[in-house]
Formats: sequence, structure tokens, C-alpha cells
Amino acid sequence: MQSIVILISGSGSNMQAIIRAAKAENWAKHYNACITSVISNRPGATGLAWAQSQGIATQIVDHKTFTERQEFDMTLREAIDAHKPSLVVLAGFMRILGADFVAHYAGRMLNIHPSLLPAFTGLHTHQRAIDAGCRFAGATVHRVTPVLDEGEILAQAVVPVLIGDNESTLAARVLTQEHLIYPAAIRALLK
Ligand code: GAR
Repeated sequence: MQSIVILISGSGSNMQAIIRAAKAENWAKHYNACITSVISNRPGATGLAWAQSQGIATQIVDHKTFTERQEFDMTLREAIDAHKPSLVVLAGFMRILGADFVAHYAGRMLNIHPSLLPAFTGLHTHQRAIDAGCRFAGATVHRVTPVLDEGEILAQAVVPVLIGDNESTLAARVLTQEHLIYPAAIRALLK
């Protein structure tokens, strides 16, 4: 069985979209794959309760309890590796990971970023797209490399920036597309 571990920091709506797709499309039967664990670096991440309600094991590795980033990375790595994952999926996981950590999962760690990469890496992507006068915005699923928001692009979705948009209206429009392209990109890899 191919194991998929999902990392979240917040509401985990992308995580929910992936788990819903895995169930609806029976990834276990068709791709011999299942989501084995959801891990959060924030104890208050609301996505944890939802994952539990779906019968998926959850774990917290709270970054605030570590003084050194390397210690956090190593503990997180142990928690992930206990599930022997084929894929590690960052779904709104808001911690920057060290180069050793990323190298350990080379080629099998994915991220979703709320912009049309390579434009607008980092934070506040939607406001920056509005400020730049972009007519289109979107989201990107990519493999993770040690360079922030870089790596092979696996899927992108484009949405229009509408007159009167603010950060939250644009983010909501982009998020609906994220929920489609992230499960699709994972499904394509499992195939
Ligand atoms: C999503 O928009 C995702 O693209 C973004 O955080 C949101 C998480 O939403 N990720 C990043 O900004 C990563 N740099 P979710 O928790 O509801 O999936």
C-alpha cells in the first residue's frame, strides 16, 4: 500500500479535499494508496478534528516546543517516517523546512502555493497580485526543493482577478481551484 502523509497548520481545507477525493474515487482500490496520517505543527489546527472524524490518525509536532529548528525537523521527520510514506503532502503547512529535511523527501514531497509560480513566492500572494494589477491569479502544486516555493510544477489553476476584489475574495476564488488541482495532481502521480 502506498502511504500518503499530509501536513497541515490550519483549517486544512486542501487536506479535506484530498481525503474526500481519495474516498470518493477509492484510491485504495485503484492506486493501492491511502492517507495514513495527518500531522500538524499547531495544536489548534481545526483540520485535526475533521481528519479524526474520518478515522485518520492525527499527530501534533508543535514547533513552539523546540528551541532549535533542526530538533523540530528531526522530530517531524520521525513522525512522518513511522508511516513509510510514498508521498508527503504539504497542505497549508506554514513552516519553512530545513534543507536536510527536504532532501530526505526529495521527489516525494509536494506543496500547494496560492499563486501562479514562479510569480509571488512567499506570503501575502493575493494582495501582491492585486497590487501588481494582475488580471489573473491562481495556485500551483509543485514538488518541494530546498528553495522556498520552487520545484517542478505539477499543476496550476488560473482564476480572474475581478474589479473590486480584495485579498479575501481573491483567496476564496483561488481556494476553490486548489481543492480541484491538489487531488488531481496526487492522483496523476499515484497512477
Ligand atoms: C491555501 O491557500 C494554501 O495554498 C496556502 O495556505 C492555504 C491553506 O488553506 N499555502 C501556503 O500559503 C503555503 N505557502 P487550507 O489549510 O484550508 O488548506
